Amino acid sequence: MPESTPSEAAPADFETSSDLHTDLDRSVQQLLLDERPSIPPRFLYDELGSRLFEVITALPDYYPTRTEAALLESSIADILAARPVAGSTMIDLGAGNCAKAAALFEHARPAHYVAVDVSADFLEQALSQLRPRFPDIEMTGVGTDFSQLLDLPAGIAADPRLFFYPGSSIGNFSRSEAIEFLKSVRAAMGPESTLWITADLDKDPAVLERAYDDELGVTAAFNRNVLLHLNRVAKTDFELADWRHVAHYDRAAMRIQMHLETIRATTVHWPGGERRFAKGDRLHTENSHKYTVESFSELLAIAGLRTVEHWTAPEDWMGFFVAAPA
Ligand code: AVJ
Repeated sequence: MPESTPSEAAPADFETSSDLHTDLDRSVQQLLLDERPSIPPRFLYDELGSRLFEVITALPDYYPTRTEAALLESSIADILAARPVAGSTMIDLGAGNCAKAAALFEHARPAHYVAVDVSADFLEQALSQLRPRFPDIEMTGVGTDFSQLLDLPAGIAADPRLFFYPGSSIGNFSRSEAIEFLKSVRAAMGPESTLWITADLDKDPAVLERAYDDELGVTAAFNRNVLLHLNRVAKTDFELADWRHVAHYDRAAMRIQMHLETIRATTVHWPGGERRFAKGDRLHTENSHKYTVESFSELLAIAGLRTVEHWTAPEDWMGFFVAAPA
């Protein structure tokens, strides 16, 4: 085989959907003009945003990553016993740096690993480091926004599949969106397929708000970076100095709401439009929904999935669910 060089096109086992950014300028500009302006959370995850999120997962204040890791470590034997998955095609939704899945390879023993993420460059870097470490596992990268459409490349075995959706990423969806998304996963599962999914659970609001507004200010940087990303891709002229990070737990809605709030009046321009913001106006950037074990099992059931078994961390801070077609 010829040596590949970094300047070459993506390898054949790596797919990127071409329409990911086509209608982006218009739709984002539209959202900025809304009465309650917002930016879709996926814009948090450009290359820099993905790196900042990686740092968030290492923060003492951000409990989800270490809580989930402890939960998986203490329960892995029971998780494997609950439903067999060896030899599956492991489909990692929102794979990022692929580290979580890689840590489970020796337990789950997939035949094929399919890493799906919206940040395609980041993903391909991670996979190229993983391939030599696990030569027996076929690996495919898919750069796509799976939250819109779970569009897997042809040629991936239909069953058994192990869908892996960790990190409580499901929390980014509203409840109705989460149901639609889980239905799309259900539709891609055969009778022997399995879903491994983590949901973050309702808890003390002080713990939650500290996790989403950490003392080092990394989450603030992560949130504000969305403006740099928009300036690049939607040709806006946001001034970062005008915006501060705000995280609030709405206990009735059971979700963390992240906003960017102006510290002074400012006008944002883009080709063909502008929006004036008064001091204290907010731009919604992300929701992170929390669940109870009961409410999450119910969500799975509505999507046609039965909870085979679930585990919660020592302090019941997070839930890990093994689900199968109902
Ligand atoms: C990647 C959606 C799981 O909601 O905890 C972390 C994103 N935002 N800190 C979460 C996030 C701010 C994270 N998820």
